[in-house]
Amino acid sequence: MIVTAAELFKVAYGKFAVGAYNINNMEQTHGLFRGAIQSQSPFIIQISRGARKYADKRMLEAMIRAAETIYPEAVFVVHLDHGDEATCYDCIDSGFYSSVMIDASHEPFEKNVEITRRVVERAHAKGVSVEAELGMLGGVEEDVKVEEGHACLTDPDQAKEFVELTGCDSLACAIGTSHGAYKFKGKQSIRFDVLQKIQQRLPGFPLVMHGSSSVPQSEIMRINAAGGKLDPTACGVNENEYLPAAKLGVTKINIDTDGRLIWTRVHREYFRDHPEDFDFRGPGRVFMSEYANFIASRSEKLGSANTLAEVRASILEQRKNKAA
Ligand code: G3H
Ligand code: 13P
Ligand code: ZN
Repeated sequence: MIVTAAELFKVAYGKFAVGAYNINNMEQTHGLFRGAIQSQSPFIIQISRGARKYADKRMLEAMIRAAETIYPEAVFVVHLDHGDEATCYDCIDSGFYSSVMIDASHEPFEKNVEITRRVVERAHAKGVSVEAELGMLGGVEEDVKVEEGHACLTDPDQAKEFVELTGCDSLACAIGTSHGAYKFKGKQSIRFDVLQKIQQRLPGFPLVMHGSSSVPQSEIMRINAAGGKLDPTACGVNENEYLPAAKLGVTKINIDTDGRLIWTRVHREYFRDHPEDFDFRGPGRVFMSEYANFIASRSEKLGSANTLAEVRASILEQRKNKAA
């Protein structure tokens, strides 16, 4: 069942966060749906502009619609990740996406407000939810590379003003995380002090945390032991901080890099250990199973495991009340 982010966040707020996972291919899609059902969790399947270019947006839609029939128990949001204005409109008009992210965070405040408000109007007219972003994370997202030192945390006062002016349904905040595998040095972590201030200004309003992969040290070591050359200082978000962030209003936690690391480790190890093999279905099967287990483990950390029945019932009730 495809639901909107707004419907899902009404159930999750303050209790648990929902994992938002990027997909580009069939193996990720099976793994994600299987892991979510294994852990009885709702989820957000997110598609970047890069994924739409790589796989073709029609292929992704067909694949996800097929997954919906293969896994009828699943409750999920179909979300555009880091959209520009034109891509948001394409997704809103598609009748397939139930949520879009307009990312104009690189623009000055007024321009960000102006663009976001336009997208909100078009999206809400079609019942689609809108995530916007204020502040800038470090790392690479889509075509924008934010150099270390140029990232800027979300200003809590501006966040309140931004939400009031735009009417967006959720807000991605820069609270110390960054995209990719190299997030922190030393004892750095999520800026809970900033998150708390944002929640105080916006009580009850759903917040989003990008750049939330945990970058397990064991994955980095196994990739390098199998021929990879990743910087061993790679470091991510402590997964035990997901639930404390959820209690402070974070309803969506974005995880992409961890899936890429699992893919890389599985394929490097598989072909190292089976040098005579050239059938990609061997590592593909291992990846789908390992990715499903990873998703299930994230559901536990996010607090979303075993909420599926409650979420479905609550959303059906919301829809009934809206129709009445
Ligand atoms: O924030 C970026 C996501 O990890 C998606 O990455 O643009 O390479 O698909 P991508
Ligand atoms: P990671 O690079 O930490 O997985 O973040 C993904 C993300 O924020 C996608 O929008
Ligand atoms: Zn992101």
